[in-house]
Amino acid sequence: MRRRAIASVLVLILLATASFAQKKDALDSEGHAWWQHAVFYEIYPRSFADSNNDGIGDLPGITSKLDYLRWLGVDAIWIAPMFPSPEVDWGYDVSDYFNVNPDYGTLADMDKLVATGKQRNIRVLLDFVLTYTSDQNPWFQESRSSRTNPKREWFIWRDGKDASQPEKTPPTNWTSLFGGSAWRFDAATGQWYYHYFYPPQPNLNWRNPEVEKAMFDVTRWWYKRGIAGFRLDAVDVMFVDSQFRDNPVVGTEKNALGDPVEREIYDKNQPELHGVLQRLRKVADENNAVLIGETWTSDIAQLKRYYGEHNDEVQMPMDFMFTTINKLSPPEFRHQIDWIEGSGEWPVWVLSNHDIRRVYDRYGDGQHNDQIAKLMASLYLTLRGTAVMYYGEEIGMEQNDPKRPEDVKDSQGRLGWPKEKGRDGERTPMQWTDSTNAGFSTVAPWLPVDDRYKTYNVESEKKDPESILNYYQKLLTLRHTNPALLEGKYIALNESDPNVLAFVRSYKGENVLVVLNMSSSGQTIKPELTQNAIAAKEGKTLLSSFNAREEMNTNEMTIPPFGAWIGELK
Ligand code: NOJ
Ligand code: CA
Repeated sequence: MRRRAIASVLVLILLATASFAQKKDALDSEGHAWWQHAVFYEIYPRSFADSNNDGIGDLPGITSKLDYLRWLGVDAIWIAPMFPSPEVDWGYDVSDYFNVNPDYGTLADMDKLVATGKQRNIRVLLDFVLTYTSDQNPWFQESRSSRTNPKREWFIWRDGKDASQPEKTPPTNWTSLFGGSAWRFDAATGQWYYHYFYPPQPNLNWRNPEVEKAMFDVTRWWYKRGIAGFRLDAVDVMFVDSQFRDNPVVGTEKNALGDPVEREIYDKNQPELHGVLQRLRKVADENNAVLIGETWTSDIAQLKRYYGEHNDEVQMPMDFMFTTINKLSPPEFRHQIDWIEGSGEWPVWVLSNHDIRRVYDRYGDGQHNDQIAKLMASLYLTLRGTAVMYYGEEIGMEQNDPKRPEDVKDSQGRLGWPKEKGRDGERTPMQWTDSTNAGFSTVAPWLPVDDRYKTYNVESEKKDPESILNYYQKLLTLRHTNPALLEGKYIALNESDPNVLAFVRSYKGENVLVVLNMSSSGQTIKPELTQNAIAAKEGKTLLSSFNAREEMNTNEMTIPPFGAWIGELK
């Protein structure tokens, strides 16, 4: 009897703890949620760490590297799609949303990863490919089986435009991002289905409430397993025009894939997508989760829309406009920072990912790449907002494009070779040690390892105090502990300087000055502090990419080529 009573008390305690865990995380004194000060880190699972030596990265591999990520200062990982997939687009063609690709492990491995992450205070986010599925997904298999199948309306099916030759005339002129018409004729039922990306990636019909319900349930299912949120893939193409109007064609020139250039007004950015995001956010809020958006935009008004009018859509729409600045241009970075600062939103910074060329090469001049890597890190990791890193940038991994067409793994590279080599170059295996295959695997990895791995790898860089890796580690520590870097407002300085980007982060009388020389020559600047009502006699160096003195005269500072200096004003 007594035992039973004790057992029920224990159950009650367990239940109470579990429900406590479901409760909202506390906000900090400034009302900021955990993710606002977190550093996110994108992992491309195929290339991160291979635990069973089959040449393919996997979930146990990620789990084994959580201690490394904790040491580095990462608070949350976003894993690019790890669901079962025929791999037409390396995971972005999901055939089962409720499982793990056997190449990467099992659901039990995912549970272990989440639990181990929890012990180390690292949250796990997944990639939610919500706009389209794989053509091997049972939903699509059913949908294509007959015109009357209950899942027919889960995808976008239309008759050919011209009734006299329906199989030759796609319903609209919309083109696929990967080339050709965005419609594929399916002879079995004599209709076309819509795919914004590859033909084996049919778009879901989000106008159908059953689709919304099923997809929202996917997120609920993963939240129950302890997933802390999702990166939402390709949200801008979630809806197409309900009247199926043709896009206007611009000029007579063709694009790189040989298609007419269109103004994508009917196949992109339809207003209905915001309703879905609002409702998806509600589900996220109920689960204390965070949504990151793959939000490609061309101006701040578009980006602002993704936050939602009442901050009720995506908490973290990534600002990709920053990544389109492909040169070390203080005026352009300043403008971009001013845009988001002026919008009143919480910025989300990103320099690269699995679709964007590696930052090391994009900004590197071929001679000072290491300094430039530190410079760019010092820029985006000292700004107000949340940062999303891409695996390997912290060790200076470089772009490693395929050399021969037969080596290309990304369909984009296969279609576009030799002009377009695809995205393999930014997806090569993580470099852990200076031994065979950079310690990623004992067998040849699915993509070749960068030949600079003997120097650029975690183990060797950890030992070198001047390495890019140790710089990142110190920078992330600073970002997590310095109140001005955590909470401070952004104040732009010397705004007409074409070579040096300088700003202050200011919080309750504590000021951190960041000075970034983006030019290839030494620069002397007089930071406009008094003009901005900041009283300071000198600056105490917190971190610098050169041999700076402990105390710097902040009336006039000389910064070496591509040098970065971060200091506390006193
Ligand atoms: C966005 C993903 O980031 C990209 O890698 C993929 O190719 C497209 N979605 C299409 O699936
Ligand atoms: Ca493996």
